[in-house]
Amino acid sequence: MYMNFWYPICTSEELEAAQPLRTQVMGLRFVAFHGADGKPCVLSDTCVHRGGSLGKGKVVDGCVACPYHGWRFAGDGKCQLVPSLEAGAKPPARAKVDSYPVQEKYGIVFAFLGDLPEQERSPLYEIEEYEDPAWRASEIMILEIDCFYERSMENGVDPIHNEFVHPVQGSPQPIPGSIEHPETTWGSGVVGNYTELGKKMSDEEGMRSDPKVLNAGTWHHGPNTLITWITFAKNTGLHQYFFEAPVDGDKTKIYFINMRSFRLDAESDDVIREANLRVTTEDIAILENLHPVRTPATRTREILTAGDKAIVRYRDYLDEWSARGWRLDFKSLRENDGDVAYAIPCPERRRSGNWVLDPVPVIPASGKSAGRVDSAA
Ligand code: FES
Ligand SMILES: [Fe+2]
Repeated sequence: MYMNFWYPICTSEELEAAQPLRTQVMGLRFVAFHGADGKPCVLSDTCVHRGGSLGKGKVVDGCVACPYHGWRFAGDGKCQLVPSLEAGAKPPARAKVDSYPVQEKYGIVFAFLGDLPEQERSPLYEIEEYEDPAWRASEIMILEIDCFYERSMENGVDPIHNEFVHPVQGSPQPIPGSIEHPETTWGSGVVGNYTELGKKMSDEEGMRSDPKVLNAGTWHHGPNTLITWITFAKNTGLHQYFFEAPVDGDKTKIYFINMRSFRLDAESDDVIREANLRVTTEDIAILENLHPVRTPATRTREILTAGDKAIVRYRDYLDEWSARGWRLDFKSLRENDGDVAYAIPCPERRRSGNWVLDPVPVIPASGKSAGRVDSAA
């Protein structure tokens, strides 16, 4: 698990329905609420007075009020009020919690969980066709899975499992020679041509007229965003976006957005949803039974072949981000659970000191870079 990336925190709808909203990402707790300007804010959940859970409190005047002694924290993380102090007394200078950069997009509240200054941050993935009238977005589908998110990401960039995990589609292996492995600053993937899959899907769901070949590509962007584009014919395709939140080392919450450029009527939403759900359920049945739950620490504990190339490259990128000191030391985080409240450091920690919570333990930066990821980005 890696700090310094954008993570989905909740849907806009979830935040409307319940404020403050308490959530967990990478084994750590966060609270989301609408701040004084009405925009979503995301803070570390632990009250720095004596450990109350802010997410169990109330929203009062654009602040989140701790349920224990009523300290109020604004969207910037600073304490505005300590009710037990004399009227007019200022809260202590250390009374601040980590506050993270937030973007609300595609009906999802995302937080940048890390301390990088803005110009060094990876971008939140841009769905370019999101507002395009030639495309239709599905409702966000939430998938809560008992698996480690990196296993789910690796499944997403795996071109060789379809034939076995999704037999209804009758998908064969990629057409030899058609496979490419594109790279971007923040990710890599696999693109190739397939037959048969398109034929079966088109028969079943009326997705295209030419049944011969379809093109499918899948990429990761950062450690936790997965993109799959399936093109059945010119101007006919499905684009799928999976924004993954590792809840813990063995639980993942996926926010799934499906875009399509055919059957744009609302009545077709259910048909598409059913098809997606079927495929996803087949993947989940595999992912929830992998052993060990998390990816083995060394590659010698598996046999990786040519068909696993995109998986190896995903791991190369993770190694790069680990070398920058962004990988959480999850073992020590877990060992100290119950004794230490950690927070992912927010950007403000680079500007001011005197923080109450310990920064989350990370694997120290090694400075070793294979140059695969643009170090200036
Ligand atoms: S623990 Fe939060 S106000 Fe006391
Ligand atoms: Fe699959």
